[in-house]
Amino acid sequence: MLVVMVSLRKAQHADLAFLMTLEEANYQLGFTGRDLLEDHHAALADDDFGYWIIEAAGRPAGFAILAGLASQNRSILIKRIAVSTPGHGHGRLAMRQLMRLAFVDYNAHRLWLDVYPENERARAVYRALGFQEEGVMRDCIFTAGAFRSLILMSILEHEPAARELRHA
Ligand SMILES: CC(C)(COP(=O)(O)OP(=O)(O)OC[C@H]1O[C@@H](n2cnc3c(N)ncnc32)[C@H](O)[C@@H]1OP(=O)(O)O)[C@@H](O)C(=O)NCCC(=O)NCCS
Repeated sequence: MLVVMVSLRKAQHADLAFLMTLEEANYQLGFTGRDLLEDHHAALADDDFGYWIIEAAGRPAGFAILAGLASQNRSILIKRIAVSTPGHGHGRLAMRQLMRLAFVDYNAHRLWLDVYPENERARAVYRALGFQEEGVMRDCIFTAGAFRSLILMSILEHEPAARELRHA
């Protein structure tokens, strides 16, 4: 099996074109939300957000956005993640690195995200990484003329998958 090195690097304003192309594609597929360019620029300059480019074999292969880095509650949100070629393990490896960032570097107590119920692939990856489903926000998003629900998932710092990261 081909082992691909996946790493994260901090995104720059110049990365937003790549990020927004991938974001738009996944928005159109119904997997993620999207934001305006001006909002991305503002968030990139905001200490509460962390923008990351996922690199595989040294090339951009996805992105992830964290929010809540300045949270007094030590509650960090994986606001958005997408990889260019799903199903090759890049997202799972990147998620592990995000978990490490959150719990080890940013001292999170809680790491959470939301996911559409129909996004079975993402849910499977999050479950395998130790996230627990904690509820459904029913009909919370109105998009393309219809309401959609979101499942909340989280992992807490004392749970095994988070504790392992501190000793990895
Ligand atoms: C979600 C995402 C980041 C996961 O990253 P990835 O690189 O695709 O993940 P992996 O390749 O490591 O794993 C995919 C897993 O999902 C499983 N899977 C794929 N389709 C599935 C389905 N329909 N139902 C259940 N599991 C599924 C695969 O079998 C694989 O699990 P395995 O490794 O145990 O076999 C990536 O798929 C992605 O960017 N998707 C589009 C955007 C998106 O959905 N973002 C998340 C929004 S919350």
